[in-house]
Amino acid sequence: MPETVCFDMYGTLCDTSSVTGTLADELGAPDALVSELDATWRAKQLQYSYQAALMEEYQPFWDVTADALAYALNQWGVEADDATRERILAAYEHLDPYPDAVETLTRLSEAGHTVTVLSNGNPEMLETLADNAGLAPHLDDVISADEVSTFKPNPAVYENAAARTDSPIDGCRLVSGNAWDVAGAGSAGMHTAWVNRANDPFEEIGVDPSIEVRSLTAVAEALA
Ligand code: LAC
Repeated sequence: MPETVCFDMYGTLCDTSSVTGTLADELGAPDALVSELDATWRAKQLQYSYQAALMEEYQPFWDVTADALAYALNQWGVEADDATRERILAAYEHLDPYPDAVETLTRLSEAGHTVTVLSNGNPEMLETLADNAGLAPHLDDVISADEVSTFKPNPAVYENAAARTDSPIDGCRLVSGNAWDVAGAGSAGMHTAWVNRANDPFEEIGVDPSIEVRSLTAVAEALA
């Protein structure tokens, strides 16, 4: 049965940890510090997005990401001028796609599914990344949380994706490497697929994933 398959971008189609090379080059920091900066940056990016949604103080995900970088640099006592920060931030437009991303999108399209991105990223950053990562030609649509001025896991974001693609919400499936996103989409009424690459336990909140797999290839195998 064809579905609208909505892929999360950051941590699902593209690897957020690919910013570590830029952090190392720009800051000349040792590996251990780069790893702490990377982890703090991503954790704060997500925390700030949840907070902005709850506080009803929406700002584009690019700005959230810049604020989170500022926090991470502060926390770890790293100095960086504005130009250096801009160059580090630009790494978000050049993340590596996971090696099985293109093939998975292609196989699902060939199987008759509608294939989209559904991400908290604002449209400009998503479109630039989708182009740079070679994903754009394999996507039917790129849907941003920006369209409803809030962030996943607010149900409005998942509902907007269903409306935008003219699908009932239970005709959509969110594919995400982020367990909190899977819980949010399931709670909003979507089917889900959790790409659990690290073999983590699922979040103790909300509904369980419809399916759990270890790779994007396994999503293609399950749905194609
Ligand atoms: C996304 C991030 C937040 O929505 O994972 O793509």
